[in-house]
Amino acid sequence: MNSQTNMTRRDFMVKGGGVVLASTIVMNNAASFAAQAGGKRRVALVGTGGRGMYWCGEMLKNYADVVDFVGLCDNNGKRVEAVQKLLGTSAPTFTDFDLMIKQTKADTVLVTTVDAIHSRYILRGLELGCDVISEKPLCTDEKQCQAILDAQKKSSKKIIVTHNARHYPEAKKIKQLIMDKALGDLVSVDYHEYLNTSHGSSYFHRWHHLKENSGTLLVTKSCHHFDQVNWWVNSKPVEVLARGDLRVYGRNGAFRSTHCRKCEHTKECKYYMDITKNERLMKMYANCESEDGYLYDGCVYRMNINIYDTMSVIVKYENGVILSYTANAFLPYEGQAIYFNGSKGRIDWNTYSGGGFKNNELRFAPNFGKSEVITDLQRRTGGHGGADSSIQDMIFREPDAADPLGLRADVQQGAMAALIGIAAYRSIERGGAVVKIADLVTT
Ligand SMILES: NC(=O)c1ccc[n+]([C@@H]2O[C@H](COP(=O)([O-])OP(=O)(O)OC[C@H]3O[C@@H](n4cnc5c(N)ncnc54)[C@H](O)[C@@H]3O)[C@@H](O)[C@H]2O)c1
Repeated sequence: MNSQTNMTRRDFMVKGGGVVLASTIVMNNAASFAAQAGGKRRVALVGTGGRGMYWCGEMLKNYADVVDFVGLCDNNGKRVEAVQKLLGTSAPTFTDFDLMIKQTKADTVLVTTVDAIHSRYILRGLELGCDVISEKPLCTDEKQCQAILDAQKKSSKKIIVTHNARHYPEAKKIKQLIMDKALGDLVSVDYHEYLNTSHGSSYFHRWHHLKENSGTLLVTKSCHHFDQVNWWVNSKPVEVLARGDLRVYGRNGAFRSTHCRKCEHTKECKYYMDITKNERLMKMYANCESEDGYLYDGCVYRMNINIYDTMSVIVKYENGVILSYTANAFLPYEGQAIYFNGSKGRIDWNTYSGGGFKNNELRFAPNFGKSEVITDLQRRTGGHGGADSSIQDMIFREPDAADPLGLRADVQQGAMAALIGIAAYRSIERGGAVVKIADLVTT
């Protein structure tokens, strides 16, 4: 969830020989997010939680020459004030979004609210004449998705979605190998997401535990993975079927409370977290509860938890590729196992570690011949193993630069990533029925 967790899990080195292939340039089909004529972007941010604060910090620290950070807004008046202080910025705070845009004369809105609220500010941002940068997921249900797609068609302003998982060095390398036909024709992808007990349970402590906030982990979390696969496969998802269950958290607990600070079971509960030990979290969340009742340390065994902790999804793409995807949120390991099966070869990308072992390797294997570990990866520093700096540079510093790998995610691509998750939870609601993307929205 937080950048620190993911940065650690991703921060690995790949050893061995490299794979050298001719490069192919593809046209970037994503929307262009051109630089503002003659000046800096005037960016206003809505949703001043952990991710919003991270974005603000980056804009202030690394992009002050190209971005004027003009205002912060949150529906929680205490949190927006606390974050302003923590950042040490003089940018004004607001609880009224329209007022912020009017008073600050922002030309760009950065949306980092709870997932289900993104669509509200994306739509209003466009109406008020702003370009919109939205955190993933673009939306959490098909109605929101349709409204955003329709609004983008009518607007001259652009929506981009910050699908940072494309920006991992390994992800870029895989894209290049697939484009270069190193695997021949890509036939299928096997993608397994392993969330460990700490990272996995964080979604059950926080707002994500309700489907109405997050669209389940299949949207809030898996949209990263579905977006990567859509991009690698270079095709549109057509059909989705899924199964999911809640087997560890929620109703499965032998005891429960409202939140950890009020709990009588702290000694026996493996998921107990003590937020009082973290000064920043106390300032940002616990001290702001009077405004919206939001609990950062909510009980992972609350009876109202209505998301899944184990999920299996199959996706069929327009070009015939099949994705087999699983995610589990209560494991001893953290990371991913991602495999690409092609007519001429295979790629294995294992990034999972924990419980006493490390398994971090990107390997290419031709169907006939010896496999090689890939090492010629361009690494950089920054959140999420450098992926955040890569996407931020692209947005703020190089909005017009060539994009041979098609790294920029426009609204259509943001929609497709969210729609696989939405289709998957609709399929689970319907007992595993096949859900066609075309039946959810008109693109
Ligand atoms: N790309 C990534 O790697 C990444 C990482 C973490 C989070 N995220 C995304 O960033 C977003 C924020 O996540 P977070 O972890 O910072 O959560 P958070 O709970 O820390 O912050 C969410 C903020 O939204 C605010 N909010 C809720 N309803 C609102 C409303 N109606 N109007 C204005 N503000 C409202 C909350 O008060 C809170 O301050 C989510 O969409 C999440 O999926 C992305």
